[in-house]
Amino acid sequence: MTAPLRDLVLRRRIVVCAGTGGVGKTTTAAALALGAARHGRRVLVLTIDPSRRLAETLGVRRNTPEPVLLDPDRQERAGIAPPGSLSAWMLDPKQVSDATVRRLARTPAEAERLLANPVYRHGTEMIAGMQEYTAMEALHGFVEEGRYDLVILDTPPSRNALNFLEAPSRLAEFLDGRVFRMMLAPEPGRVRGTTRKLVDAVLATVFGEQLHGDLQVFFGSFAGMLAQLNGNAQRMRERLREDDTTFLLVTAPAREALTDARAFEARIRELALPLGAILLNRSLAAWADRPFPGPHLLPPEPTPAHRSALDKLVALAEREQRKVEAELALLDELGGADTLAVAIPDLGTGIEDVPGLVAVADRLLGPPPR
Ligand SMILES: Nc1ncnc2c1ncn2[C@@H]1O[C@H](COP(=O)(O)OP(=O)(O)OP(=O)(O)O)[C@@H](O)[C@H]1O
Ligand SMILES: [Mg+2]
Repeated sequence: MTAPLRDLVLRRRIVVCAGTGGVGKTTTAAALALGAARHGRRVLVLTIDPSRRLAETLGVRRNTPEPVLLDPDRQERAGIAPPGSLSAWMLDPKQVSDATVRRLARTPAEAERLLANPVYRHGTEMIAGMQEYTAMEALHGFVEEGRYDLVILDTPPSRNALNFLEAPSRLAEFLDGRVFRMMLAPEPGRVRGTTRKLVDAVLATVFGEQLHGDLQVFFGSFAGMLAQLNGNAQRMRERLREDDTTFLLVTAPAREALTDARAFEARIRELALPLGAILLNRSLAAWADRPFPGPHLLPPEPTPAHRSALDKLVALAEREQRKVEAELALLDELGGADTLAVAIPDLGTGIEDVPGLVAVADRLLGPPPR
């Protein structure tokens, strides 16, 4: 249990779990949310693509229009009691992006036109960063609403842990790209008009008349929303700099953990965002305080067989201990003067059930006061 981490998580309003792909962001976000709810906070976890089992534990399904409150039975089993509560929402990028289009379109007709546009319907995933952007959009809404004391944000898998923050500007670059400007409605002017005709003819040949038309409509509408989209993302980035927000870097105990963490620290400082802690997931360092085998295990009158068994056990434990020490050293290196580093044990598949999440939560935040 680490009191500084508990203070950090329980006092903030937004906690972002970032990290590269597959390190345990979704699991950690869920465990922290459950833990904070056990400590009496009204918590929402925005989770992205959880495993089936974890989704089942959290009682969420894809495509729900609203966050889902964990049912009373499960809240009780998880040791959550009022005023604490746990809600979860499984982000569906498509749904959030549709809502964004509806909100940003100048008229309902424009929104419907874009939503029905085949390029939009089949191509939103193609747009770099749309998925990451949706995480930001959702967070924006829930934080401003004030229905929760704490929103924990899981982030999408990516090689770069902060991609989701940088996506909107990449989206802007993409849509501002030359090729896509060509798709937009032609500007007046004879020379432009002639060039335009040529471009149109080429694009129509390449994409076919119908798709070319669809693309024009798509980029025509979408480009109009871009300024607003970027405005929101910019505001959100500023929001995330406020002192009720903290970023946790989740990393795994491979050799890359240190490289990952350093790159993340550098980038997060550059963006002037608050780095709260580094969580070293699935780490043997979490077992540092487990008991060591010794003569206390022997019966009052040990036989040679007992002694030999103990020797073997001790040798095994010593080997394990060296691994534990290596990971403790890594943990030490990850942390710094103002960076907290905490280890999470590997709990096997049980981690996706309530007791597993409770175990991680209590390890990170301590058990709730009775
Ligand atoms: N401490 C742990 N002990 C045991 N299993 C774990 C632990 N942490 C994560 N896992 C398992 O590792 C897998 C990946 O975890 P998770 O989905 O949380 O990672 P992620 O960082 O969210 O991945 P992605 O980048 O794909 O979204 C899951 O099957 C999860 O149950
Ligand atoms: Mg995940």
